[in-house]
Amino acid sequence: MNTGLEDVVAAHTVLSDVDGKLGRLIVRGVSLDTLVDTARYEDVLALLFDGFFALPDDLPAALGEARRAVFAHVAFADPELLALPPVDGMRALLARLDDGDDLSTALRLVAAPAVFIPALLRRQQGFEPIAPDPAKSHAADILSMLHGKAPTAQQATALDRYLVTVADHGLNASTFAARVVASTKAGLTSSALAALSALKGPLHGGAPGPVLDMLDAAATPAQAPAWVAAELDRGERLMGFGHRVYRVRDPRADALKAAVRLLADSGAIDPARLALAEALERTALAQLKAKKPDRPLDTNVEFYTALLLEALGFPREAFTGVFAMGRIGGWIAHAREQAKTGRLIRPMSVYVGPRPQEAA
Ligand code: ACO
Repeated sequence: MNTGLEDVVAAHTVLSDVDGKLGRLIVRGVSLDTLVDTARYEDVLALLFDGFFALPDDLPAALGEARRAVFAHVAFADPELLALPPVDGMRALLARLDDGDDLSTALRLVAAPAVFIPALLRRQQGFEPIAPDPAKSHAADILSMLHGKAPTAQQATALDRYLVTVADHGLNASTFAARVVASTKAGLTSSALAALSALKGPLHGGAPGPVLDMLDAAATPAQAPAWVAAELDRGERLMGFGHRVYRVRDPRADALKAAVRLLADSGAIDPARLALAEALERTALAQLKAKKPDRPLDTNVEFYTALLLEALGFPREAFTGVFAMGRIGGWIAHAREQAKTGRLIRPMSVYVGPRPQEAA
């Protein structure tokens, strides 16, 4: 039995295609390598939403206005909510949004993680949240709201590339969760909340924080091989490696490695940190190959995500929330597609528990 539903087709989608054998990702007809070089996050959003919503002429401006609208909810971040990990605080604020199914709801949902995560982080650090600036690009505004000053062009481009890279990725666990909820005809907010809850687990979007823990524990390039060997001997998983679908390198890892290099070239990444990451990646790939020769395990999206988000000044406990800033575009498009073209998702289970005694 496929308890992880691998090889089960649960949807037909026009949104994205993940080719696990060739290591290729296509979003609405455009391959990821083209997309990261040519599109901003707002362009990818337009691509994903096309045909599912009536789009305004100026989608970036509408998204900017949505950022401004959701900022009002930051006032509800009380001390109890601020004590939560940022992704849980963000989920609580997200739950306050109307559960509609129109473009206005969709854009507010896309705006929500981008606004709530920087605001929550600032409030947790004792600073006032910074209001969004609708005139900025989505990526540049996120970094401005986080740091209180405009990012460099390289920093804004690096975050934009990250958001583009993670915007959609077939029927991953969080997107499936969104589609299950949408299949009941619940609203977009309900779908996004289900997806966010699925995203936070360490086997899905919760991995990049632990990637940095791994780098800290490995400490130096020279110590990395022994550290990795000890982890694998204890049966631990190496965060940032392996994937349910990819049997070759995750193409998103290359897209993000290129963004990391962009930051490194502008001096925004400590070269020693990058050298440690590259040494750990090399030894991890060699040791995983030796240990599991029958199971191709390669670098996944989360490995270079960790380095990128660290260099952009996000604390590791907020990484899952930053992932949600990008993936929420995909969740909403999938939820709409499911509601418009799909049926109620209701699989079967096989009962293996005790049965009542039959009468003699
Ligand atoms: N490190 C060490 N061993 C691994 C790893 C890893 N990262 N990933 C898989 N394996 C091993 C498993 O231990 C298992 O070995 P066994 O057959 O001897 O028990 C074998 O490979 C198959 O593992 P499964 O769990 O069946 O593979 P699955 O397809 O379910 O796993 C997953 C995919 C969950 C991503 C897994 O590779 C993993 O746990 N990776 C680490 C966490 C991670 O990086 N998550 C982010 C994924 S990308 C994303 O979701 C955005």
